[in-house]
Amino acid sequence: MRGMLHVLKLLASRQVDEVYGSAALRNAPPKHRIPEQEIPPFDAYQLVHDEVGLDGNSRLNLATFCQTWVEPEVHRLMNECIDKNVIDKDEYPQTAELEARCAHIVGDLWHAPETGHPIGTSTTGSSEAAMLGGMAAKWRWRARMQAAGKPTGKPNFVCGPVQICWHKFARYFEVEMRQVPMEKGRLMLTPEEVVARCDENTIAVVPTLGVTYTLQYEPVEAIARALDDLQRRSGLDVPIHVDGASGGFLAPFLTPELRWDFRLARVRSINASGHKFGLSPLGCGWIVWRSMDDLPEDLIFRVNYLGGDMPTFALNFSRPGGQVVAQYYDFVRLGREGYARIHRSCAETAAWLSEQIAALGPFSMIYDGRGGIPGCTWTLREDAGVPYNLFDLADKVRSRGWLVPAYSLPANVTSLVVQRVLVKNGFSRDMAGLFLQDLKRAMAQLAKHPPGRSLAENEVGSFKHT
Ligand SMILES: Cc1ncc(COP(=O)(O)O)c(C=O)c1O
Repeated sequence: MRGMLHVLKLLASRQVDEVYGSAALRNAPPKHRIPEQEIPPFDAYQLVHDEVGLDGNSRLNLATFCQTWVEPEVHRLMNECIDKNVIDKDEYPQTAELEARCAHIVGDLWHAPETGHPIGTSTTGSSEAAMLGGMAAKWRWRARMQAAGKPTGKPNFVCGPVQICWHKFARYFEVEMRQVPMEKGRLMLTPEEVVARCDENTIAVVPTLGVTYTLQYEPVEAIARALDDLQRRSGLDVPIHVDGASGGFLAPFLTPELRWDFRLARVRSINASGHKFGLSPLGCGWIVWRSMDDLPEDLIFRVNYLGGDMPTFALNFSRPGGQVVAQYYDFVRLGREGYARIHRSCAETAAWLSEQIAALGPFSMIYDGRGGIPGCTWTLREDAGVPYNLFDLADKVRSRGWLVPAYSLPANVTSLVVQRVLVKNGFSRDMAGLFLQDLKRAMAQLAKHPPGRSLAENEVGSFKHT
């Protein structure tokens, strides 16, 4: 009753108060314990809304691979599905049906042979999908080794410069990661390096279709051929799991002739992020196995307390249904034509931006936006002769809101610092032009006022230059 009176009083005061003069907003709420009293929803909304306004503007986030723009209809569907749990397949059978359809659509995009009964599921993103793919590979390998009466204590997988999720998989699931290090002049896996690291304890080889650091595709087909050859020579049969987090939704539309998917018999499972180039909102990933035989039965749990007999093979249980529904919307809304048009437009902008950045002078392009993920990657030339580095440049363009990270590459090229731009749906050619102007302005300012110098030195410097 007292609480109720408190809210009524607040509501009464709200009629005369301007928002920020309201009793609720006159004081800041405690930050690390729940407040004693409640406040009206509009005041609470304003409070939280204002705080998240301090985040970077996601539309200017050229660092993320994830979608930062979706159609208004997606917002509506997400809203309509906010209360649906994708795991409640018996209660929300139509959402479950859309999930099953999406998994089929994704399998079909990746040329999964229907006769083999491919099987797939949605996940929260590629990380969860990668864990599932890795686990299935480990389980299959263990069963094979046990059947042959061999020890199962030392599984390994072979990969190139993978995303952090594979480091997590290695640690969480106790599988040795045999990572082919990057070298100057070789920033990705090669068939020779892969084969040299495979043995009878290799559960899978994991090439990446769109390396996180450089955006380039690793040569899946050449790796598959080398593994075929290895099998002919040694009898070792090493499967491939493709991490197609980005490329899985790009290659089918931009480079349909590229053979990286289930057209290669050795590819047993593929993961991709719906929320990256699948164009669905954040929180959506996919994994598809080539056939039912590739997903060991003892990884599937059957739950009946929600009604029905529900198979589940995700790491999480409850998850919002909206992302899957939105993914289905994207598929029916865009079709092959729409996905190809959007991705092509991004790829063209990326190639254009890459040419413009190369023409600025101090940079050497590592990836020019052609053949892999729409975007570009560059480094500072050793003879650039500029008084700043890429970290300074990243800081400077951030003052205009652009989030364009600079980072050092992993072993063995940690001394190589690169900067990267992702071109996604929503980053138009016009915005690319605006970014370029800001990049040039940042370079000019840094040249005039080199970082790490005192204000007085910079003043002298700026006088000298003007
Ligand atoms: C190659 C690759 N794999 C996996 C992931 C993890 O994906 P998610 O963020 O969907 O979990 C990423 C994310 O950038 C990636 O680039």
